[in-house]
Amino acid sequence: MYKIAVLPGDGIGPEVVAEGMKVLNALSENYSVNFDFQEFDINSERYLRTGDLVRDDDLEQLHKFDTIFLGAIGDDRVKPGVLEKGILLELRFHFDQYINHRPAPLWKPFGRLKRDVDFNIDVFRENTEDYYIGAGGRVSNGKGTLDLRVKRELYDMHVKLDANADAADDFAFEIGMMSRKNIERFADFVIDYSNLIGENYITVVDKANVCSNIYSLWREVWNDKCKRAKKDLGYMYVDAMTMALVKNPDKFRVVAVPNMFGDIITDLLAEVTGGLGLAPGGNINPNGISMFEPVHGSAPKYKGMNRINPVATILAVKMMLDNLGRRDLGQVVHDAVRAAFDKGVYTKDLGGNATTSQMGDAVVAAINRV
Ligand code: IPM
Ligand code: MG
Repeated sequence: MYKIAVLPGDGIGPEVVAEGMKVLNALSENYSVNFDFQEFDINSERYLRTGDLVRDDDLEQLHKFDTIFLGAIGDDRVKPGVLEKGILLELRFHFDQYINHRPAPLWKPFGRLKRDVDFNIDVFRENTEDYYIGAGGRVSNGKGTLDLRVKRELYDMHVKLDANADAADDFAFEIGMMSRKNIERFADFVIDYSNLIGENYITVVDKANVCSNIYSLWREVWNDKCKRAKKDLGYMYVDAMTMALVKNPDKFRVVAVPNMFGDIITDLLAEVTGGLGLAPGGNINPNGISMFEPVHGSAPKYKGMNRINPVATILAVKMMLDNLGRRDLGQVVHDAVRAAFDKGVYTKDLGGNATTSQMGDAVVAAINRV
């Protein structure tokens, strides 16, 4: 029995999560596996009603689960950053999910490149540091003190900055930070994964030519780890990487990237593979509770229209099963998605005419057929 905490979230989140649960239920009908679901109303509606983002008692409850299944967080009625940082990032950080794994295989025939080129890329995005730590602030009239704090499983860090400019202007800071031990454990995970799939080359992305403080530490660790593990490693600056992912995606297999650039290149790559409707992600803590979600957001304008592609979420379910140690069932889900596509069932974003629920039904039908 696997205990799954379900957070449908906002916008189209509940619709796609419903399809993911259909798939899990189909598995328990066909295979010897059981899931126990509990839904949490951690979302914008509750925030607008009560002012609560993630409450202490939510966290206490969530700790009792094997895994977290998330739809999407985001709502136009709320100022940007409040829900994203207060819910999504709060969960990633609280559960110390320091790896964000975003597989990007080409989904034929939906690839968006003009050239016929096959590829299968696994992106690993660092998930708790970099420019995402939420440390920063403003000083007005050129003067002020920023009292910053970054609290993680690995450390509790206080930083104080005294700013004193000779111009009475407003200044804003957003501070990026990385720590050696976190980069080390992240690199270890990526190297283990590359061993698992028999890949000897890791592409490491950054912008060490400009942000040379933060990314020299990053490179120091990568150099050291890859040397010890006898892995070949190549660095790419993120600007060149965006170009290369469109031009020669087949040159890459395992890609490691800091948090912020990872956010950007995984949307780009999702589009290259066939679209955001096909891109899942896993926020992984190898020794704790992980969280699975589609890469896309809450798409409020499509809410309730039964139109959005649920496959990214269904593939997030596949990643969840892999992570729970049921790679056999993960494979069943993957094959069922492929089979549904091969039968010509796909949603509007891919040029088809299936609705959200018809797409989920087609995947379930494929599971039932096996
Ligand atoms: C993602 C999203 C989030 C991120 C936002 C909503 C905070 O864009 O999961 O890619 O930047 O990580
Ligand atoms: Mg993103």
